Amino acid sequence: MSNVYLIDHPLVQHKLTLMRRKDASTNTFRTLLNELSSLMAYEVTRDMPLQEVEVETPLETMTGKVIDGKKLVFVSILRAGNGILEGMLNVVPGARVGHVGLYRDPKTLEPVEYYFKMPQEMEERDIVIVDPMLATGNSAIAAVNRLKKLRPKSIKFVCLLTCPEGIAALQKAHPDVAIYTAAIDRQLNEHGYILPGLGDAGDRIFGTK
Ligand code: URA
Repeated sequence: MSNVYLIDHPLVQHKLTLMRRKDASTNTFRTLLNELSSLMAYEVTRDMPLQEVEVETPLETMTGKVIDGKKLVFVSILRAGNGILEGMLNVVPGARVGHVGLYRDPKTLEPVEYYFKMPQEMEERDIVIVDPMLATGNSAIAAVNRLKKLRPKSIKFVCLLTCPEGIAALQKAHPDVAIYTAAIDRQLNEHGYILPGLGDAGDRIFGTK
């Protein structure tokens, strides 16, 4: 699978396994998700461009490196994407944040946008879309369709978990969008849940079930 990055760092795998446990409390789930999101932010920002700057240390002047260009944008797909933001912002505190809200029309089953708020100057920014689960791929595809209209420099997609169906759908629609994930599970069930998965990510993050 091209353009899919499996983050197999032992700490990521360990935390993900603890999150899958059905008896993990809301607090535990959220804490692990924060920690895991920070580790994933580290991986997804690995190729950020740098520029050289002069820096005066207490002893000498030298050439150091800092991140180049406009601030990165994390785009959360509501509502579960919000569970990933805090951990990512711990690692990239200057990043901007956008939100996309989508629901599925019960008749057409097509995603319908109910909220869309982005920072300015998106054409000069790199985007990292966050959503814990890439399942059918419908929301991810709709979010990328919408974001591409703003002509950003690049778009990456970060999730905790995905499945072959979700990857195939997103790659077919948007082969240029790199997918970063901590696991590729076996399959999607008839209700659109990932198996073995971790259940409903939004409910587990917000304690709504
Ligand atoms: N969304 C979830 O929260 N869980 C799944 O398994 C699939 C989509």
